Amino acid sequence: MKVVVVYYSKTGNTKSIAEIIAEKSKAKIIPINLLEKKGRGTEEERLKEAELFKQALNESEKADLLFIGTSTSFKQAQSKIRRFTKSVNAKNIGLFCTFTKDVGITLTELEEILSENNITIIGMQEFGGLKTGQFKELVNEERKKYIVKAEKFAEQCLEKIKRTEK
Ligand SMILES: Cc1cc2nc3c(=O)[nH]c(=O)nc-3n(C[C@H](O)[C@H](O)[C@H](O)COP(=O)(O)O)c2cc1C
Repeated sequence: MKVVVVYYSKTGNTKSIAEIIAEKSKAKIIPINLLEKKGRGTEEERLKEAELFKQALNESEKADLLFIGTSTSFKQAQSKIRRFTKSVNAKNIGLFCTFTKDVGITLTELEEILSENNITIIGMQEFGGLKTGQFKELVNEERKKYIVKAEKFAEQCLEKIKRTEK
């Protein structure tokens, strides 16, 4: 089974969750933005991001299961993730997001886009309580809570795919 994880992360939280999901599901992981980019970034950085976006679309088409992850920005998904979700062609999708305390319409708007395009949503998971850049500082039980949740989410999505393929 081919699994791909595509994500957008600004301060590393969504990246960390994406990595846990990717490891659990033996997935190829593709960021669609550069963490180190400041503001509009350099010409080179913009070209690199455009390349990542294209690569993510290509890999997604071949995937049996695609995870799309985004951080929450002003109660919405990142605009690049919205654009990606509108363009993507995939069989099954699992959606996840990270936020601090108000998730707004982050996942529901992505869900709406996919339903309009008749793409099956296999699962959705929110990871709240994360201040910007906080994940890497979490220790022990606090960190474990997110790891367990992310692994469980990955497992449930994989199980669903396996069941429907039988
Ligand atoms: C510009 C900006 C806007 C944000 N807007 C929200 C918001 O509306 N609701 C919320 O709960 N968190 C909000 N956050 C917090 C992030 O969504 C949260 O820390 C997330 O886990 C960051 O993920 P990342 O490290 O992958 O970028 C915002 C953060 C920034 C920098």
